[in-house]
Amino acid sequence: MPTDAAAERVDQRLNRHLFIVDNYQLLTSIETASVDLICTDPPFAKNETFIGSLTPPLTYREKQQEIKKLKEWGISNPTDAEKSNVTWPSGASTAKFRDIWSWEKDVHEQWMQEIAHTRPKVMNVIETTRYTHGEGTAAYLAYMAVRLIECHRILKASGSLYLHCDHTANSYLRLLLDAIFGTANFRNDIIWSYRTGGVSKRYWPRKHDTLLFYVKSENNKHNPIQERISMKNRFSLLK
Ligand SMILES: C[S@@+](CC[C@H](N)C(=O)[O-])C[C@H]1O[C@@H](n2cnc3c(N)ncnc32)[C@H](O)[C@@H]1O
Repeated sequence: MPTDAAAERVDQRLNRHLFIVDNYQLLTSIETASVDLICTDPPFAKNETFIGSLTPPLTYREKQQEIKKLKEWGISNPTDAEKSNVTWPSGASTAKFRDIWSWEKDVHEQWMQEIAHTRPKVMNVIETTRYTHGEGTAAYLAYMAVRLIECHRILKASGSLYLHCDHTANSYLRLLLDAIFGTANFRNDIIWSYRTGGVSKRYWPRKHDTLLFYVKSENNKHNPIQERISMKNRFSLLK
């Protein structure tokens, strides 16, 4: 367990900061058992590249503010940014990420050796996925596994994790989280339903995402909130 002083150091370093780095790099630098809550909205393994669809373009002022911040970190131009794996602020729409996974490009041999040695259950989930769902999904799980193992390490005994995903990989992620957190620490798969997007004529519409909720231990802290009545128009069928 970290000392109070260590927890305070972590607070000072992490609170109210936005880190624009590979989250694996950041997670490995965080002290063990020092974090209360992790909410993550990672790529969903959609086998697509998303370009400019998630964030609006930066205004001139926002762009200048971001450049100033990067300069404070010693990153002063787009080439430095690329070397540091950071996105250089742009007036164009900036959200771009590849959600296509391959064993050769995305999985480091060293990760797999470590997982095989220290986390046989996790290895089993990845190998089974490779067999049943293919190499792309297994590579995605390996990418998620190294990060979720770190998430588990840094959570306090009272901590919780919420992972946002959809039908593409939710079952595989649940197996992976069972292997990392333990099946007893699964608490819920929360359904987030929505009505936006198109509707297929060939199958029932896919109109929900899933938030997988795990705790670090049975001593988890939960602050219940009261929800407003959301079904005033029952099943949203009445106007
Ligand atoms: C499903 S999107 C989440 C979007 C976000 N919730 C929003 O509303 O803008 C997944 C995000 O994870 C980011 N991402 C992917 N791999 C990452 C990594 N290793 N470290 C940090 N962010 C990553 C992608 O760039 C993308 O923005």
